[in-house]
Amino acid sequence: MIYPILTPEEAAEYIQNGMNVGVSGFTIPGNVKVIPPAIAKKAIREHEAGREFKINIYSGASTNDYTDGELSRAHALNYRTPYQSLPEVRNRINAGEVHYNDRHLSELAQEFRYGYYGKMDVALIEAQSITDDGEIVLGTAVGNSPTWLQIADKVIIELNDQIPECIQGLHDCYVPLDPPCRREIPIYTAHDRAGKPTAHVDPKKVLGVVKTSMPLGMPGKFTPVDEQTAMIGKNVCAFLVDEMKNGRMPKTFLPIQSGVGNIANAVLNALEESTEIPPFEMYTEVMQDSVLGLLKSGRCKFASTCSLTLSATAMADLFENIDTLHDKIVLRPAEISNHPEVIRRIGVVSMNTAIEVDIFGNVNSSHVNGTRLMNGIGGSGDFTRNAYTSIFMCPSIKKDDCISTIVPMVTHVDHTIHSVDIIVTDQGVADLRFKDPLQAAEEIIEKAAHPTYRPLLREYLAKAKENGGGHIYQSQKSALEFHRALVEEGDMRKANFNK
Ligand code: COA
Repeated sequence: MIYPILTPEEAAEYIQNGMNVGVSGFTIPGNVKVIPPAIAKKAIREHEAGREFKINIYSGASTNDYTDGELSRAHALNYRTPYQSLPEVRNRINAGEVHYNDRHLSELAQEFRYGYYGKMDVALIEAQSITDDGEIVLGTAVGNSPTWLQIADKVIIELNDQIPECIQGLHDCYVPLDPPCRREIPIYTAHDRAGKPTAHVDPKKVLGVVKTSMPLGMPGKFTPVDEQTAMIGKNVCAFLVDEMKNGRMPKTFLPIQSGVGNIANAVLNALEESTEIPPFEMYTEVMQDSVLGLLKSGRCKFASTCSLTLSATAMADLFENIDTLHDKIVLRPAEISNHPEVIRRIGVVSMNTAIEVDIFGNVNSSHVNGTRLMNGIGGSGDFTRNAYTSIFMCPSIKKDDCISTIVPMVTHVDHTIHSVDIIVTDQGVADLRFKDPLQAAEEIIEKAAHPTYRPLLREYLAKAKENGGGHIYQSQKSALEFHRALVEEGDMRKANFNK
């Protein structure tokens, strides 16, 4: 190998205060694991010597504790984009210590190429292998690595010997040309390939290689599907079956997008069990454990994803069975797994989780009470705005009935009534298509809201009508009364519109 072998500490020495640093991966998989902790230690030394040391981290989506966790604990994070999900980073963002720019995941790579963020100083990329002429087999996620390798001034590779050789061929690295030269992305089905199995870097830019032996796979476990999430899964499945029966969806079905977490898991379980939905494909950004089960059983025919968001056990299972699974999975850059053009062309059915939904169908995915960041918009906007049918799911009530997820007005808007088609809760399915805002409000209150909150929501609509009516009824005085009641009295049921 022509590249110098570096220790993590030697690699960290290349990182200077104020630098723009791109990292590989998408959610926890595919992230660099040993260089960021060494940078965090350097930051602590610099701070102790009275010098400023903070950097800007650009990722594919959220990262791991080695990156966001270690750097934020060392007070070394200045700016983060496009997504995060660690409580520790979230708290620092909400405290104003870290600047956070919540971006659509499909857009960051192109925005960097357009020059919006200035130059990328260094890219830190986890890989399975690198050749002397700069061909790189990436790890368990693609994220934004192909673009970072293209644009970064310098690159350092973490070569992780735990990534098995059999991963070769799963990746499809494709970087579109930028306007005015961009052409169509040649992906016409979920299983088409547009690029190459390797990403490319100019070998002259590679500062060195750090050899690692770090475990793969997501830590922790999902809490099992409970009655409420199982009901949501069943309702989503029943809706999809109905769509096929009514001719609104092809009998051959359409590719689906589904996130991580318990609700997504419950939906995938329901799809696994359904005898009416034919075997289907996924065009999605994350592939969690239940998708592996679906691929093995044949219920899912193909999974296009950006990341193998698998537990350690499922990751080992995948690689043990790679002979039968290799041609059923493709790993794409975030720019392509979430690309509006492809999502619209192939007719993806999007399924995402909401924090809260208002009676007209606006969705808040990211900010609790409109102020406290949870994670971010992630890929939900990429998929929702361009989906064949866009679905949002959430439990109708939370925290011992004190929170209704259906509210008069959302406190922060990520997805508007102009893009949201269907709301599913444990109570049922609200279909907003073909409806004007007031018809949508009736539908959401009757089909998606919990019975405990329906009278209050109806009362709000009546008050809002008295306030002057209009195309959308709103009461400027009472629109956030549910949230006031929660913040001040700990219970949305104490909302009082007569004050
Ligand atoms: N009002 C007040 N607080 C609320 C709330 C509401 N309507 N909804 C949730 N919360 C609070 C919960 O009480 C909980 O607080 P706690 O941690 O103090 O207990 C916290 O917010 C998280 O809620 P929870 O229901 O556990 O969230 P989740 O794990 O089901 O995730 C999202 C839901 C929306 C946060 C998550 O799906 C997300 O980040 N989505 C955006 C990204 C995305 O959609 N990506 C595309 C697919 S991968």
